[in-house]
Amino acid sequence: MNNDETYSLLLSQIEALISGESNRIANLANIASAVHHAFDFWWTGFYLVEGEQLTLGPFQGPVACTRIPFGRGVCGTAWKEQQTIVVPDVEQFEGHIACSSESKSEIVVPIFVNKAVVAVLDIDSKYLNTFDNTDKLYLERLADLIEHCW
Ligand code: SME
Repeated sequence: MNNDETYSLLLSQIEALISGESNRIANLANIASAVHHAFDFWWTGFYLVEGEQLTLGPFQGPVACTRIPFGRGVCGTAWKEQQTIVVPDVEQFEGHIACSSESKSEIVVPIFVNKAVVAVLDIDSKYLNTFDNTDKLYLERLADLIEHCW
C-alpha cells in the first residue's frame, strides 16, 4: 500500500472509531494510537491549548516535554502561525524543542474549532525528510475530523 491508500483507510477507520464516542481524551488517545501504528513514526501525539501554552495530551511514543509556550518550538510556531509546519530536518529549524535526540524530522498540524487553534497534532520521525505534501493533505483532513471531538 502506498501512503495515499494507508491514509485513506486510516481516516475511514478513525471516523468510525470516534463517531460513537463523545469523550475527547478517549478519542484523542485512540487517534494517536491509530496514526502511530499505521506508519513507522517515532512519536505521535497531541498538545492542547491551555491559556498561553500547550500542554501534553494523549500520545504514543517515549515521554515528552509537558509544556510548550505560544510561539516556541515547532508546535508553538504552528499554533502562532495557524498553519501546518513540515520540518525535513529538525536541526535546521531554529528553536526546535528536542524532546528526544532520536527525532530527525517532524510535522505539526493545528486543529481548529471556530477558526481558533485548540490543539496541535505533532508527529516525529527517526528519519530525515519523512513528511511531504501527502502527509500534510491527509493530516489536515484528519484535523477536520478531530474538530468534532470539541
Ligand atoms: N519538537 C517539538 C516538541 C514536542 S516533541 O517533538 C514531542 C517542538 O519543537 O515543538
